[in-house]
Amino acid sequence: MNHMIKKKSEIEKMRISGKLAAKVLEMIEKYVQPDVSTEELNNICHNFIMQNNAIPACLGYHGFPKSVCISVNDVVCHGIPSKKQILKVGDIVNIDVTVIKDNYYADTSKMFFVGETSILSKRLCKVAQESLYTSLKIIKSGVPLLKIGETIENYVEKQGFSVVKEYCGHGIGTSFHEEPHILHYKNKNKMILEKGMIFTIEPMINAGKSEVKCMKDGWTVKTKDHSLSAQYEHTILVTNYGCDILTWQKKEKILPSFIN
Ligand code: MF3
Ligand code: CO
Ligand code: CO
Repeated sequence: MNHMIKKKSEIEKMRISGKLAAKVLEMIEKYVQPDVSTEELNNICHNFIMQNNAIPACLGYHGFPKSVCISVNDVVCHGIPSKKQILKVGDIVNIDVTVIKDNYYADTSKMFFVGETSILSKRLCKVAQESLYTSLKIIKSGVPLLKIGETIENYVEKQGFSVVKEYCGHGIGTSFHEEPHILHYKNKNKMILEKGMIFTIEPMINAGKSEVKCMKDGWTVKTKDHSLSAQYEHTILVTNYGCDILTWQKKEKILPSFIN
């Protein structure tokens, strides 16, 4: 028995978790405005998740103190929501939501713009999203796992940005982080994708160099060179024909099901 291959009944539950995680990102959009604190956004997400009979997986995860991660500008990931952090015009904001519903996890994030932002910010976010989308176009049962990282890194480098190496996507199911690790850069992984695998792809893309550093709070990760960073994350199901985006949002310009 391969624990990476989900049963039909598990896939049905993960579709439900995925839809809820996507709904959190759809719901929070209108609140991401100048003068709002990241703690307020965290609390709105927390309450919405609880009202939907689910649990915010980040809260208490290895001691993480809040319900979602909110990463602004040069914060790469794992930003801790705070009442001291007030959003201002021009900020780019990643909100990373992981829910547990009926014991199954779903994990997704996207970028939000606070008012009008710079051309560089918009291009960086676009490239981060496209790097995720291009990787979805090569996924199906039988494809080597390493194609995902190769596709993402090739695309991002062509655009003149860099891929963070320290964090990767992950299998997901009844736990937050499962096998396999999904690297977003060129690698020599021998695994072949199989129908029924569910994992995240979550490239973190920097406008400058790829190096990152963790702050003294033990969580907040920033770019070493203080350049902007952007990330998009989806939870994906591998099928015989392509892949399904379990965390697909209605406003996305791509379809939820890929035939590759
Ligand atoms: N959601 C993140 C991921 O994509 C993990 C956040 S862990 C936390 O894997 F503790 F910082 F919340
Ligand atoms: Co993840
Ligand atoms: Co996440």
